[in-house]
Amino acid sequence: MQLNPSRNRFGLKEWLSEIAVGVSMKGVVFTEFLAFVSESWDEDLVDDIIEASALESGGAYTSVGTYDHREIVSLLEALSFRTEQPKDALMRQFGFYLAGRFSVFFPQFFTRCDTLFAFLASIDDYIHVEVKKLYPDAELPSFDVLQSDETQMSMRYRSSRKMEALAQGLIYGAAHHFGCTIHVAASDGGDGSVIFAINEAGS
Ligand code: HEM
Repeated sequence: MQLNPSRNRFGLKEWLSEIAVGVSMKGVVFTEFLAFVSESWDEDLVDDIIEASALESGGAYTSVGTYDHREIVSLLEALSFRTEQPKDALMRQFGFYLAGRFSVFFPQFFTRCDTLFAFLASIDDYIHVEVKKLYPDAELPSFDVLQSDETQMSMRYRSSRKMEALAQGLIYGAAHHFGCTIHVAASDGGDGSVIFAINEAGS
C-alpha cells in the first residue's frame, strides 16, 4: 500500500478509502491463484471466475504488478459459488498450493532451515523482510512466535487483510515440504489477530 498520497495516482478520497479497506496486493498472489484454479480444475473455470468478478484489472495480472486486494476476494467468491465449496476451505487449499510454488521460486528460504518450526519462525524475521526488499510496495502480515518447543509452536498472525485461511494453508504446505505431519488449530487472538497452535502429529 502506498501511504504517501503524493505518490498515489488517485485523489485523496481514493487514498483514504484504500487505507480503510487495507489495500493492494502483489501480483504473484493473483497469478498463482489463477494457476491454482487452472491446475485444480481447468482453464475454463479461470475464465468464468474472471468474467463473473467484474475486475478493475480485467484479470490480466503480472507477478510484479500490484492490484486491489478486493479482487482476490471477488475471485474467491466466484470460485466458491461455482465449485460449491466454502471460501475458507478453498483459501486453505490455495495456501497449500502456494507454499509448494514458493519452494520452487524461492528455494533458498527453505534450504536455510533444518526444521519446519525454524522455517515458520523465519517468516517474520527473514523471509518477509527479504520479500519487502524485492517488492518495496508489498504490505506483509506479521507473524510472531509466542511459544515454541520441539513438538509444538504457537504463533500470532495479524493483518489488515485477515487472510488467516491462506496463512493456515501456507503452514500446512510448508509442513508438507519439510515432510512433517501437523495439526493447526486457529483461535481468536482477541484484538483482530489470530493465534495458530501448531502440533506435530503424535505429540
Ligand atoms: C518462501 C516463502 C514465502 C514467500 C516468498 C512469501 C512472500 C509473500 C508475498 C510476496 C506476499 C504478498 C504481499 C503483498 O501483496 O503485499 C505474501 C503474503 C502473505 N504471506 Fe508470505 N511468503 C512466504 C511464506 C509464507 C508463509 C509460510 C506464510 C505462513 C503463514 C506466509 C503468510 C502470508 C500471508 C497470510 C500473506 C497474505 C497477506 C496478508 O495476510 O496480509 N507467507 N507473502
